[in-house]
Amino acid sequence: MKNKLNEEMLRLGKERSAIRELFEYGRQRAKEIGAENVFDFSLGNPSVPAPVSVTKEAERLLREVPAEQLHGYTSAAGAPEVRAAVAEYIGKTFSVPQKAEHIYMTCGAAASLTVLLGALCTPGDEIVVIAPYFPEYRVFIERAGGKVREVPAAEDFHLDLGALEEAIGAQTKAVLYNSPNNPTGAVYGEEELRGLARLLERKSRERGTPVYLIADEPYRELSYGAPVPYAMNLYDHAIVCYSFSKSLSLAGERIGYLAVSPRCADADALFAAVCGAGRALGYVCAPALFQRVIAANLGKASDVSVYRANRDLLCEEMRACGFSYVAPEGAFYLFVKSPEPDAKAFCERAKGHELLLVPSDSFGIGGYVRVSYCVPRQTIERALPAFAALAREYGL
Ligand SMILES: Cc1ncc(COP(=O)(O)O)c(C=O)c1O
Repeated sequence: MKNKLNEEMLRLGKERSAIRELFEYGRQRAKEIGAENVFDFSLGNPSVPAPVSVTKEAERLLREVPAEQLHGYTSAAGAPEVRAAVAEYIGKTFSVPQKAEHIYMTCGAAASLTVLLGALCTPGDEIVVIAPYFPEYRVFIERAGGKVREVPAAEDFHLDLGALEEAIGAQTKAVLYNSPNNPTGAVYGEEELRGLARLLERKSRERGTPVYLIADEPYRELSYGAPVPYAMNLYDHAIVCYSFSKSLSLAGERIGYLAVSPRCADADALFAAVCGAGRALGYVCAPALFQRVIAANLGKASDVSVYRANRDLLCEEMRACGFSYVAPEGAFYLFVKSPEPDAKAFCERAKGHELLLVPSDSFGIGGYVRVSYCVPRQTIERALPAFAALAREYGL
């Protein structure tokens, strides 16, 4: 006997993401030939430990706070003192008069985005994303009832304002950007973001309703020097989706927040819709222990110099092998041009050398592969001969 299931969910569940698929393949392969012989560059799982202060605070809370208080429900939007701490941090760091009542604590950026898109999208709304983009955007946007409008990035993977101008119209609800960027490592500068803000202001005026700007910021602290401008300082109708997954290496703890700019039109109504979407999606009361842990660690980050050293080594050696790429300015991904047009075919050949790379197709463009260098340095060192052999196979 079989019941009819939700076809769309069934499809999503069976399809699995290309990245997870590779990750599972890598685990299987490690069992067969030993983990040290598999070069898994598929997943964005931080390889640098969380700062000691994170572990210490978790231990302190577990030791000092009575369990029934520590592990009980918080308010749906988060513990009041945590929301206040986040708002104060944003206020001090970015000089934005952030209100605690516009902070919603969530299970990472994924939940921030699904909750926000649930609050924003009405039938027919388009969300503009800049290709290449994080593949789950499509899943989140479509599930919220919106449509994905892909706008290609410029050749250097920065914003193409001309292309954005053409794409934004009456149907655009929001522009969603991610900087430092997954998968390209681009960090958008103040100039280009100001250009985008001016464009959105003009479009909003012309049509009489605001186009929202969504900043997806799990990699904010992972910049190798380039400043990361704060969206709320550039544009009024901005919402920040933040996560501690990468900055504090807490990806498995599922903790982040959503912050609505105090200057956002209808900020109170938008926040109420965020609470409604959180309720409808079951994203209420983010993990209570880690809400408190992050409150004591705002502004801290894992040791970025480790990722920078990995980037430098990988970039230098890949260049020497003959591969081409735009050097990443942040995050921990290298986006390499595939030596053949079919990136999936290239990844299959890479697998022959035990190199697990992600083809760019699911990021919204073809012809590239993503190499996640959030791995132990030895993995990169051991993988270099495999990259060299792969390059030789293509006559680079
Ligand atoms: C650009 C981007 N947005 C959102 C997420 C989701 O992050 P989280 O673990 O905080 O849900 C990721 C995770 O890799 C990401 O790369």
